[in-house]
Amino acid sequence: MPLQTSKSRQFGNLATSFSTPVPEGDNRVGVTMKVRQNLWLWMAAAFCVALGLAIGVVLEFGANSEGFRAALRATARLNLLLFWPAYVGGALTALFGKVFAPLSNNSRNFGLAFAAALSVHLGLVGCLCATGNVPDAKTFIVFGAAAAFVYLLAFLSIPRVRRALPDRFWPLVRALAMNYIALAFIKDFARPGIASFRDLFLYGTGSSQVVIMYVPFAALAVLGPMLRLAAWIRKPRQREAEKLSIRQQALF
Ligand code: HEM
Repeated sequence: MPLQTSKSRQFGNLATSFSTPVPEGDNRVGVTMKVRQNLWLWMAAAFCVALGLAIGVVLEFGANSEGFRAALRATARLNLLLFWPAYVGGALTALFGKVFAPLSNNSRNFGLAFAAALSVHLGLVGCLCATGNVPDAKTFIVFGAAAAFVYLLAFLSIPRVRRALPDRFWPLVRALAMNYIALAFIKDFARPGIASFRDLFLYGTGSSQVVIMYVPFAALAVLGPMLRLAAWIRKPRQREAEKLSIRQQALF
């Protein structure tokens, strides 16, 4: 059961993705400590997995621009797997019920684990630049803004920081930042994913390795905003249906 205070209730189900449900009652300190410990564990684990992956790929392909690019591609996929549950956990629970509650209850853990793993991706960008292969300005602007949003969300997820902000501010910033990050993933995965799928299945050309590398990630990246949109559309209808059922119950 997620713990709720009047503050987190106020945010309703918007208090997911990079945000903490703050506990109430006598054991508040103990529970908060446990939540924090858990969070550090998630972040440390994500960072170590990303670092291990990067080192493994660089050892395989060499400590040169090709090796760093391959490691960037590998860590980008891990990043999506961490970001995705934070992005759609709430939507999946709203659409399909409690079976997805573990995802929405751990939105903050997934979000901050993603932020930790992203730091390895950014470190690899630094290594790539050191080889003299500096990415173009557009990459820095588009993906730099996405990275800035990730760390802004991480900063705003600190309960004390968020409490200092007006209530209306957080859902707006969160929606803007999360959707922008999702679009950054779509931008890099969708086009090669769709192209490789089309080439292989329509024309029998291209490599199945490219399909495996892109299609599942492109599908996840595109599915994310669709699920969020479906949950957003369904919400007022669900409320109407609930009101109707209450009214009908009152008649009997
Ligand atoms: C939240 C922020 C970021 C996201 C969502 C993201 C996403 C991605 C994705 C999806 C890929 C895989 C591309 C592929 O497989 O073809 C990738 C690779 C890469 N990213 Fe990031 N990235 C982020 C931050 C950055 C930043 C700030 C930079 C620096 C400018 C950067 C530079 C690169 C480079 C150079 C590659 C390798 C491209 C290649 O040669 O295949 N990324 N990133």
